[in-house]
Amino acid sequence: MNTTNSIKTDELLFPTYKKWNIAFEQASGSTITDQTGKTYIDMMAGIGVVNLGHGHPAVLEAVEKQLQKGWHASNFFHYEGQEQTAKQLTSHSCADLVFFANSGAEANEAAIKLARKHTGKKKIISFLQSFHGRTFGTMAATGQESIHQGFGPMLEGFEYVPYNDVKALENAIDDETAAVMLEPVQGEGGVIPADDSFLQAAETLAENAGALLICDEIQTGLGRTGAFFAHQLSGIEPDIITTAKALGNGFPTGAVIGKAHLKDAFGPGSHGTTFGGNPLAMAAASATLDTLINENWSQKAKDKGEALLKELQERLASAEVVKEVRGKGMMVGIELNEPAANTIGKLQEKGVLVLAAGPNVLRLLPPLTIDWEMLKEATALIEETLKR
Ligand SMILES: Cc1ncc(COP(=O)(O)O)c(C=O)c1O
Repeated sequence: MNTTNSIKTDELLFPTYKKWNIAFEQASGSTITDQTGKTYIDMMAGIGVVNLGHGHPAVLEAVEKQLQKGWHASNFFHYEGQEQTAKQLTSHSCADLVFFANSGAEANEAAIKLARKHTGKKKIISFLQSFHGRTFGTMAATGQESIHQGFGPMLEGFEYVPYNDVKALENAIDDETAAVMLEPVQGEGGVIPADDSFLQAAETLAENAGALLICDEIQTGLGRTGAFFAHQLSGIEPDIITTAKALGNGFPTGAVIGKAHLKDAFGPGSHGTTFGGNPLAMAAASATLDTLINENWSQKAKDKGEALLKELQERLASAEVVKEVRGKGMMVGIELNEPAANTIGKLQEKGVLVLAAGPNVLRLLPPLTIDWEMLKEATALIEETLKR
């Protein structure tokens, strides 16, 4: 394997990430090249971020143009890019008002605050194996003990119930509940799609309890699962949607999109951010959304994702190490009956980048724009690796 051992960031950085032995040099379209000149097929898109591929020309041009005009004034100013981006997000969702943040966790943090402030209640129900972020609020919302460890006491008021279990949700929800918070497909938890009937029941149960439904679409949103937002495939209308990752196609930005009736809860002085919604992020987001919408990438992701899933299911049907291949759109999980880390390393040697989701699942989140030839090359290498 080509290695880049000269890079020793482990001496200078907190080791929060177990870094791979790959030093990033540059990225283009659906490939990443390291400092030794080795090129990889990118089947992870920066953890579901560059949905339009690396260095998309429309996004690049919009950011470069904005750089010349200025990149910070503050949220006291009207920023045309915020209006534009908010219009794109609200006209393609069931919600009406936007708060811009810098990341997924910040968007979820704002959503939790909005739900508590609006309802005047504190209980938030989320799900086992969920992932909502690393801040205190979003860590508390995350239904994974390993993520809480060592950081206690957790923010109080959070309850976790089994995912896709309507009865359990019915038992947990009551008049004290401010919100039900869920991912339409659990990403970090193992690429687990929610059943339509579960999402529909969550909507009804929340409404009956006077609670808000929050859909965390940070990983699933913006075309990834074959719809602009994944929950739209089940015909539900959450009160709050959060998005981030793909919003700026790699430029850090996030957003909370909420229904109009929540407006008063986020009045002046209630919540804020210095950098959220800055002109550069908005230029990137607006160009990304324009491209995603005008070129119909949600539908393309649906079609390509179905073909990818079928291809992988066929190729891996006889691989003993594979338990299940599942997914939605261009979000695919390959569940193994052994730890995924070993396979990830072997695939890197062959020039393919994939992620883990939980201990045993390989997670594929390629750019939606990846061409079929490259996808086939990657699936062949995955087959070769898993059928040792
Ligand atoms: C569903 C979901 N919510 C929230 C987050 C947190 O986003 P960020 O890392 O931008 O804070 C992630 C990140 O992986 C995510 O997948």
